[in-house]
Order: sequence, then C-alpha cells, then structure tokens
Amino acid sequence: MTTPSPAGNLSFFKDLHPPQSHFREDVLNGLSKARKSIPPKHFYDARGSALFDDITGTEDYYVSRTELSILDTIADEIAAKAGSGAVVIEPGSGSSVKIDKLLSALDHPAAYIALDISKEHLIAACEDLAKRFDGLEVGAVCADFTQPVALDDLPIPQGKRLVFFPGSTIGNFEPGGAKALLETFHGWLRPGDALLIGADRVKSAEILENAYDDALGVTAAFNLNLLTRINRELNGTLDVDAFKHCATWNADLARVEMHLVAKRGTQFSVSGQDFQMKAGETIHTENSHKFTIPRFTALAASADLDVKQDWSDARGYFTLYWLERA
Ligand code: TRP
Repeated sequence: MTTPSPAGNLSFFKDLHPPQSHFREDVLNGLSKARKSIPPKHFYDARGSALFDDITGTEDYYVSRTELSILDTIADEIAAKAGSGAVVIEPGSGSSVKIDKLLSALDHPAAYIALDISKEHLIAACEDLAKRFDGLEVGAVCADFTQPVALDDLPIPQGKRLVFFPGSTIGNFEPGGAKALLETFHGWLRPGDALLIGADRVKSAEILENAYDDALGVTAAFNLNLLTRINRELNGTLDVDAFKHCATWNADLARVEMHLVAKRGTQFSVSGQDFQMKAGETIHTENSHKFTIPRFTALAASADLDVKQDWSDARGYFTLYWLERA
C-alpha cells in the first residue's frame, strides 16, 4: 500500500516491509565461527551513527571531503548530462550534504526518491529534504536494497532517472555482493538513465590505514562501540578494554579490513552463550574495497553497465563514475 506520509509533505511513502535485521542471531553466529566476524550494518545504533558522522570530519578520513570536492567541480557537467526534470533515486538515504549539492546543481529536478531499510531514518530524512527543496516531489520507499528490489509498482514520476550512490559504499560489499547490487541498480535504469556512483581508489597503505585509524581515535571508538552495543542490548559481558581497533590494508584483496583484536586472552558471554578468545584473535567487522579505474570499470561491466565518464580529484584519491546500461 502506498500511503501519504505522516507529516504530509511527501508525495508517497511505500513500505516494502524488508525483513528486520537480527542483531542477536548475527552476533551469536558471527562469534561462533572459527574466524569471528560481525556484519557492519550493526555499527549504527545512535552512538555509532553519531561517531560515523564524526569520522567523515576527521583530517585522516579524506573520503567524504574528496568526493564532495569532486561533486563541486563537476556540478555543471552533471547538470548538463542529467538534463532538465531528472528523477533522482538514492538507495540508502545518506549524507544530506551530498544530496543537497546534487539536487541544487540539477536543472529543475522532477523528483527525489529515497530507499532505506530504516523507516524512521528514511521518513525523517525525506521530510527534511522536502522542506529544504520546496516544490520538489519527494517519495520514500522502505526497502532493503541489498536484496533485489524492483521499482516497477512504485509511483515514480516520468523523467530521466539518475541513481545516486556516493560514499564508496559499494566498497563495503564483497565482490559478489557488489556485482549483485550493481545488477539491482541496472534493473532500475532504462536506456538513457544513469547511475552516478563514487568509489575510493587504491593508494598507499599508509594513507589508507590512517583513514581507517584516524589520529583522534574516532574510528577506533566507532569500531569498539559495537562491543558496547552488544553488552547493552544482548546482555553481554565483554571487557571492551581487552580489545583494540585495528585497520589493515590487505593488498591481495584490495581492501582495508577493520578488526577488533583481543589484546589478551579474554572470556565473555552474550545472551547466555560463552565465548573465549586468545590474545591476537580478532573479530572482523568491516571491509572497504578500493578500486583502480580499470578494476571498477570491469566490475561495472560484469553487471552490464558502461562507464561513460569518470571524474577524479587532482591527487587521484577518489573517482565518481557515470554509468549507463551497456
Ligand atoms: N563506505 C565508506 C568507506 O568504506 C564509509 C564507511 C563505512 C566507513 N564504514 C566505515 C568509514 C567505517 C570508516 C569506518 O570508507
């Protein structure tokens, strides 16, 4: 059912009822593995979300700043390519700074449609955006876009579609998941529509590791907060001080890996289940894959998408790609 939004300033709200994520099951399964891991989506409780915002402002985390500077530089070019009356679709309503920049650059965009798994976050973000862009049609879709989502039955206005996926979030997926996600986006595009997507580049291990282990310790606090969340929500007994944050560049797999490393042998329970870890043993919490331009072009091609244009900053740290159906 498509329903009017609670505050009434959205054109539509559609709930596709994505399955809720299971924090307890994911944590217990992940801790029971020979190589422990916890899916990164569980970072984002209230404190995790606030810390993530702080990461994007640190000196060492160049990613957000660099992408925004590229967007600034290419605003007119993007506007010309998108034409008048574009329908902007954003999977995962993210940073308001980036979407504001894009929408402000475009020539009379017809609509903005966001998809997000978190209904509260989605509605709040969309209602806010509708207030900032008076007269823009804004639609919200509660959905998990990491599972195939078709837009077919949604009341999306006519117009050239521009799917916007900034932030190098594509890098947080394993190669197979990244391809599947691009295939989902491919399914949203018709001939002439486009996907504007950001991806972080391969660079020196030092720069990459500092970006994910900033000097102020914000990323460390972000990673360790997962343990605090487990203690609070899953009746955990983890000694947070027995762990340290670690970010390492894995050159073979072209990714920065974030781990929580046991500084000493430690035992704990979560939801009544007992676990122990040896000194040096880790819980793997996230990957951030980095791409050379040829590697990203090949990934896009594997999902039947053509790189029509790409733009990078002067240092070659980050690239925005304009993709269309092959
Ligand atoms: N996708 C971005 C990246 O990988 C942002 C991000 C996601 C991030 N999780 C993170 C940044 C954890 C720092 C730490 O860079």
